Amino acid sequence: MFTVEEMIEKMTLEEKAAICTGTSAWTTTPVERLGIPELMLADGPHGLRREINSSGLLSESMPATCFPTASCLASTWDVNLIREMGQALAQECISLKVDVILGPGTNMKRTPLGGRNFEYFSEDPYLAGQMSASFINGVQSKGVGTSLKHFAGNNQETQRMTISTEVDERTLREIYLPAFEIAVKQGKPWTVMCAYNKLNGIYCSENHRLLVDILKDEWGFEGLVVSDWGAVHDRVASLLAGLDLEMPGPRGLRVKAVVDAVSSGILEESILDEAVGRILRIVLKAAESPKGGEFDNKAHHALARRIASAGMVLLKNNGILPLKGQKKIAVIGRAAKEAHFQGGGSSHINPTQVDSPFDELRALASDSEFSYSEGYPADDSFHEELINEAVANARSAEVALLYLALPESKESEGYDRPDLDLTHQQIELINAVGAVQPNTVVILNNGAPVVVADWINNTAALLEAWMMGQAGGGAIADLLFGKVNPSGKLAETFPLRLVDTPATINFPGENGEVRYGEGLFIGYRYYDAKQLQVQFPFGYGLSYTNFTYSNLRVSNDKFRDVDGLTIKVDISNSGSIAGSEVVQLYVHDQKSELVRPYKELKAFDRVFLAAGETKTVSMKLDFRSFAYFHPGYKRWISEDGQFDLLVGSSSTDIRCRKTVSLVSTLVLPSLLTRESTLRAWLSDAHGKEVFTPLFNQFLAPMQKMLAGDDENGEIPPDTLNYLMEMQLVDLLHFAEGTLPGSPEDIVNNLLTQVYG
Ligand code: GLC
Repeated sequence: MFTVEEMIEKMTLEEKAAICTGTSAWTTTPVERLGIPELMLADGPHGLRREINSSGLLSESMPATCFPTASCLASTWDVNLIREMGQALAQECISLKVDVILGPGTNMKRTPLGGRNFEYFSEDPYLAGQMSASFINGVQSKGVGTSLKHFAGNNQETQRMTISTEVDERTLREIYLPAFEIAVKQGKPWTVMCAYNKLNGIYCSENHRLLVDILKDEWGFEGLVVSDWGAVHDRVASLLAGLDLEMPGPRGLRVKAVVDAVSSGILEESILDEAVGRILRIVLKAAESPKGGEFDNKAHHALARRIASAGMVLLKNNGILPLKGQKKIAVIGRAAKEAHFQGGGSSHINPTQVDSPFDELRALASDSEFSYSEGYPADDSFHEELINEAVANARSAEVALLYLALPESKESEGYDRPDLDLTHQQIELINAVGAVQPNTVVILNNGAPVVVADWINNTAALLEAWMMGQAGGGAIADLLFGKVNPSGKLAETFPLRLVDTPATINFPGENGEVRYGEGLFIGYRYYDAKQLQVQFPFGYGLSYTNFTYSNLRVSNDKFRDVDGLTIKVDISNSGSIAGSEVVQLYVHDQKSELVRPYKELKAFDRVFLAAGETKTVSMKLDFRSFAYFHPGYKRWISEDGQFDLLVGSSSTDIRCRKTVSLVSTLVLPSLLTRESTLRAWLSDAHGKEVFTPLFNQFLAPMQKMLAGDDENGEIPPDTLNYLMEMQLVDLLHFAEGTLPGSPEDIVNNLLTQVYG
């Protein structure tokens, strides 16, 4: 068997150009004479969508397990469980002969209107990164590849193939890249999929800074970069920018353009070889895992149920749940009979089987009488008679279960949501049923937050069941009857109103651009900064038991940034039934040179506790847990100072806290320039040192002139503030007569002393 380098040596220019573009919708180009096989890629991310006819046009796919979608996965906060799901996905890929599954999707949820929020994990980059890394580790542990997507800044569906995401460097680095960075560094995905959109005016598929400088050089990514399907506009330009594999194929003209570009010298052959090498290493790695055989669809269905019940979030409960022996149960809503378990678009799976929520209820409570009413139509038309029938059903029951799913038209790849509301019919239905039945429980099937303020007061309980996957019907029954204790926690804030959301003013953009004007402040970062009330906060979720937190302690009260910190806290299950708690650790920087969100999630752990049991949870913080990206230094920096460690059961339910002192070991260069102000010179360590003698020399005459009739000869504060914001060179012009040289020469000389 040849090495990759030998293969590249032996390949013709035509063969090298060909392997960099797909040969079909889902496969790369083989080179039989050199024993180079094709690579088969297929969608995910929460199930395998291997098309039967490989048309590439969302045609029918082979049966596979439809697991819960990412918004449900993230609500488990369970990295081990997501890894287990990844392993099951890999087994299905092996069985259906797929080498790379196109997932996970890890774009930030900038707005709950995002049409693909069901496919993405969170509004928080740390949580999304940990979920993505565990997904990747699970799949790849079985010799199947993943495709971390969509890199980067693809946070809406509106004009997704052409729009330019306009985002400042700090926001990009602290919010929109970290989930990818964590996943690349901890998961080492075989492939990264570049997004359709432009990033600050340059298509991601042609963005050298994104694909080479950041992804490959800075983060050390060694796999291949594949385009989103149809995201390449100029194959030569994308190769020059580090985009290794164009999909889909075939694209004969694109291959020819590459051959011509190398032949004419426009494209260095070494750049083509770099892409070919990356592709070959993945192709050969994939070939090491034999494909074929069966997968255990029953076991995977059971796993899908376990994941769904761990990710569903109990948002309200007046005690009606878990159900206890009620004999007459009204079951209302089409989603009780037709499970709404996934979204539209490329992630749409052909499930091996689907649990009927209604049947799963009866299976767990065979001696109860269940009466069904449709409640609302499949679309968002209005039908009073459906409400009247449901009200009659609910009135005569002991409890009413309302299964509410957004219509297919409301959540999908390809378009964003028009609003955060349930349909008018559904809202009327909840209020009408709740008015006659105090024990009304609402179960939601949606991929992203909905506004509940119009109806939640008429409910006794609310369970967010998400896009729950094919086994979700059973998972709902497990939670309603208490077979499983709810433990899910929100990974995306539920706002009170759409107008309260961070992106409201700038979404979805106009004239080909969308400006991320809210900067760092998305999700809970925004609501904290605005001190805005929300319906349900990030990290929130109820249980049937209670947990207490105690004995928070740290490895050091004062520590160096490079040494990090270990935090321990004791968690007790003070209730009467076993359950899992997600312990969340947020960090608050008391003082920073640049603005920072009030707090940021930097660690979490999920712990299972029997009734009465206590366990110690240990979490580690490192340099990046305290650092922020400084656009002036173009790097992550730590600053000396006090940080509050906030440990809690949600982002607004902080149970214990501790202040620690960080000592930065960084030696940062000066940022002083010819334009720097007096304030900049006096606050820069190097600058102040070299500038003080001169400052004292020329300040004296200035003081007399500016102090006016102040008896202490002090310069009045408002005048001093005015001077502080002046460029030093301009200020020196005021003292020109007393200076040893021109202001420009003096400042240049100072800069020479600072920079050596
Ligand atoms: C789609 C999606 C991407 C998917 C790919 C292949 O347009 O953006 O997530 O993996 O094309 O279907």
